Parts: sequence; C-alpha cells; structure tokens
Amino acid sequence: MSKLVICDHPLIQHKLTYIRNKDTKTKDFRELVDEVATLMAYEITRDLPLDTIKVQTPVAETEAKVISGRMIGLVPILRAGLGMVEGILKLVPAAKVGHIGLFRDHETLQPTEYYINLPTDAPNRQLIVIDPMLATGGSAIAAINALKKRECEHIKLMCLIAAPEGVKAVQEAHPDVDIYLAALDERLNEKGYIVPGLGDAGDRIFGTN
Ligand code: PRP
Ligand code: URA
Repeated sequence: MSKLVICDHPLIQHKLTYIRNKDTKTKDFRELVDEVATLMAYEITRDLPLDTIKVQTPVAETEAKVISGRMIGLVPILRAGLGMVEGILKLVPAAKVGHIGLFRDHETLQPTEYYINLPTDAPNRQLIVIDPMLATGGSAIAAINALKKRECEHIKLMCLIAAPEGVKAVQEAHPDVDIYLAALDERLNEKGYIVPGLGDAGDRIFGTN
C-alpha cells in the first residue's frame, strides 16, 4: 500500500488556516497556496536519492552529495493545480511541467478530460500530480489513469486538503501512488465539497464566481 503523508509542519498548518478562511481575498489566497506548495515540495522531495561526488573546496577535496535518479515532472490538474506550480518550481526549478485538464460535472461529480499535454520524456520522470483538492478522488484517479495509459509509472500525488473518501478511492485505484497532504478533513458534503475544506479552490485562486 502507498504512503499517506500529512505535512504537519507548523508553517504549513498556520498558512492553511488563512487559506481556509472565507474572508481571505484572491491575492492573499494565491500567495498562501504558492507558499504552502513550496513547503510541501520540501517534504515530497525528502526521499530523492543521492549520489556521492568529489568536490574541491577552497580548503580540501571532500566527498559530498548531489541529487541523482529520475528528474522531476510536475503535472497540475487544471485549473486549480496551476496555483501550486510556481511554488514547487522554486525548489525544483529544472522540473518539466505537463498539464491535464479535467472538470467535475456539478451534478454527477464525474471528471471529464478536456486537455492533456506532457513532456515527451514524462515516462522517465518522477511525476508529481498536483491539485489543491482531493474530494471524491475522481479527478486524481482520472489524471493518474491518463498518465499510466502513457507509460508513466513513477507517480506521487500532492494536494492541500483531502476528504477521507478521496484518499480511500485513490489508494484503492492506485495503490502504488504515495499521497502528500497538508490536511485530511472530515468528510464530503452532499454537493461533493470537502468539509470544512476551503470552498472552490479554482474559483478562489482565479477570482471567478
Ligand atoms: C476541483 C479540484 C479538483 C476536483 C476535486 O476542480 O481542483 O480537480 O474538483 O474533486 P474530485 O476529487 O471529486 O474529483 P474542478 O472540477 O472544480 O475544476 P477547476 O479546477 O477548473 O475549478
Ligand atoms: N473541489 C473544490 O474546489 N473544493 C471542494 O471542496 C471539492 C472539490
């Protein structure tokens, strides 16, 4: 079974409180999502493999570490996942970025794919699927299905807030995908919104509705 990691660093939790607050305006919301994404990137990259190389300091030659292994690819789920991309790129600036466009039908809650564009070397990369919200899990599962259909196998999922229903659904559909969250909330309401959650992530990031 995959790992479920709750990133409980105090800075993440503090910022998440302001992200949740309904009175936080678009500009601050966007900045806070960006900052939390950077802090979560620190956690999700914690197990990157290291190689040892020799380096000459001004004083002596020594052995030192460099990151090795697969290059990283970020795959935001449009729209709301876009709000986390820049924050992660601050820590992994060489990452390539693919995009998967999905929207949830408001009645059925089923995701519909409307766009996909991945780096050509995506199958060789450690991919991180990004979406602030993991509600029913339908969008994340569809995004991961789309990646696996294109031979991508090394996939992690990063979300700000999840409902237990969404975590369970992703773990059942994709037991190989580790999930990183800032918070695991109580439940979904009858409209498929996470309770207490933060409302509609896309609308709050982009100032729509
Ligand atoms: C939201 C959110 C996720 C999805 C989560 O996107 O950003 O992608 O819902 O719900 P699920 O786990 O039940 O699938 P939405 O479909 O509202 O699109 P948007 O980002 O374009 O607003
Ligand atoms: N999508 C959102 O943006 N918010 C939720 O609470 C659930 C799905």
